[in-house]
Amino acid sequence: MNEILEAIRTRRSIRRFSPAEVTEDELRLILDAGRWAPSGKNTQPWRFVVVRSADKRSALAQLAPQDRMIETAPVTIGVLYDRDAGYDPLKDAHGIGAAIENILLAVHSLGLGACWMGKARVPEIEALLEAGSTEELAALIPVGHPGEQPAPPPRRELSEIVRYI
Ligand SMILES: Cc1cc2nc3c(=O)[nH]c(=O)nc-3n(C[C@H](O)[C@H](O)[C@H](O)COP(=O)(O)O)c2cc1C
Repeated sequence: MNEILEAIRTRRSIRRFSPAEVTEDELRLILDAGRWAPSGKNTQPWRFVVVRSADKRSALAQLAPQDRMIETAPVTIGVLYDRDAGYDPLKDAHGIGAAIENILLAVHSLGLGACWMGKARVPEIEALLEAGSTEELAALIPVGHPGEQPAPPPRRELSEIVRYI
């Protein structure tokens, strides 16, 4: 299996983190991977907000407390959808999903861990992320050094999900 296929297969959602920092260089590589995702008409309707300061992280953790992920991660990336940049809500959402998966794979390739926290609009989180009037919350991605090694959740067999016609 080549490196990309291996990374796709071995990436896991990581929900517990050790206290070690994520460096600026690592963060830049991760965000850059998001930037290179495909998007409908190449509209790139995603915006990334890096939440690194202790006070913002703790405020965000209170608004999204699930599994203490954000509280324990040294950095969380807020993913916003800029409606004005996009052209079709469904296709824009697909592009943002591609950007998030690129981010998750980049994180994994660096030996780090992350979890895709899908978030419908939460006004308090959007305010904390300083979202503009045309931007809405799409996801939160806590990133850090893995503090767990979860077993792979099962996947449906190809025979269940693929039809040859
Ligand atoms: C759209 C979307 C929303 C998700 N939201 C959450 C979430 O809110 N909390 C969480 O713990 N995991 C969330 N996940 C992660 C999934 O639970 C996880 O990807 C799935 O169980 C498969 O596990 P794996 O990522 O380790 O392969 C989300 C994943 C996607 C694609």
